[in-house]
Amino acid sequence: MLAIEARDVAKTFRAGWIRRRETVALRSVSLAVPRGAIVGVLGPNGAGKTTLLSIFATLLTPDRGSVTILGHDVVREAAALRRRLNMASGRPSFLWSLRVGEIVAFYGRLYGLHGATLARRVDELIETFELTTHRRAQYNELSTGLKQRLALAKALVNEPELLFLDEPTLGLDPDVSVRVRAHIRSLRRERGMTIVLTTHYMREAEELCDEIAFIKDGRILARGTADDLKRQIGLGDVIALRVEPPAPWLRNAPGVLRCADNDGWVRCTVDDAEKRLPELLRQLYAEGREVKSVQVKEPELEEVFVELAR
Ligand SMILES: Nc1ncnc2c1ncn2[C@@H]1O[C@H](COP(=O)(O)OP(=O)(O)O)[C@@H](O)[C@H]1O
Ligand SMILES: [Mg+2]
Repeated sequence: MLAIEARDVAKTFRAGWIRRRETVALRSVSLAVPRGAIVGVLGPNGAGKTTLLSIFATLLTPDRGSVTILGHDVVREAAALRRRLNMASGRPSFLWSLRVGEIVAFYGRLYGLHGATLARRVDELIETFELTTHRRAQYNELSTGLKQRLALAKALVNEPELLFLDEPTLGLDPDVSVRVRAHIRSLRRERGMTIVLTTHYMREAEELCDEIAFIKDGRILARGTADDLKRQIGLGDVIALRVEPPAPWLRNAPGVLRCADNDGWVRCTVDDAEKRLPELLRQLYAEGREVKSVQVKEPELEEVFVELAR
């Protein structure tokens, strides 16, 4: 069953009255997200990531197209959906003078919580996100990392089935990012939550997401697992070899897409290193050549990104 089914979603921002300005944020985006999946929306600045998430989270309405979330239409049935989803931004903004505990409680009340239930929920979230010692700190006193943890706590106050995270680890120290990612994984594992997150950190997408959608200029250019994407772009694995004496047939060997010679190394781009490396080595040894060193490099998601963003 699908958590999200978006078809041909388009959104243009219009601003100005005398001098009208139009910005096309989304052109024709279709995306399906299965329940219980973690899907990443990856793309350069201005690609339309936040706009897409905001439409899914019922914060913006699309100009065209349709979005069905948990079986409900995102525009017509927005009110019913809001109880079942939530969103956190990596650039959170809450009233500066409110205290951490007050902010979580405020959002809890918006979802109809009160009394002991509200108090318990706030306590749990504050504990989960290690905010206990900051509970009485004002929002404007918090570090970036604490603000983001607070944003996550706020986003779970209604125990959503579907969670949208807009750049959840933006600007965080690496050790804090690791903890936030571990927490995101546990939300899916322990509660079966469906999570859609945006990021421009390739490693984050690769590590967290079952599927990744690449978006640029308001269009999804490619989608699939990190490995699918690498294959689609045809980057291939690289096998680098130092062979004595050199073997000119390497460039024509099965599965070898390209070959380059450079300071004693032959770098062969192959379709599948795991399959081709043993074949190549067997042949080289059979010919009595000496293989002095071997390196295998899988393509980085980053390279896919650079290729697509061109
Ligand atoms: N409220 C808005 N008013 C006008 N233009 C906007 C607004 N929000 C976003 N945009 C524009 O829409 C495009 C997509 O923005 P956004 O969805 O924020 O991209 P991303 O999150 O991928 O960086 C950008 O060109 C941005 O400037
Ligand atoms: Mg954004």
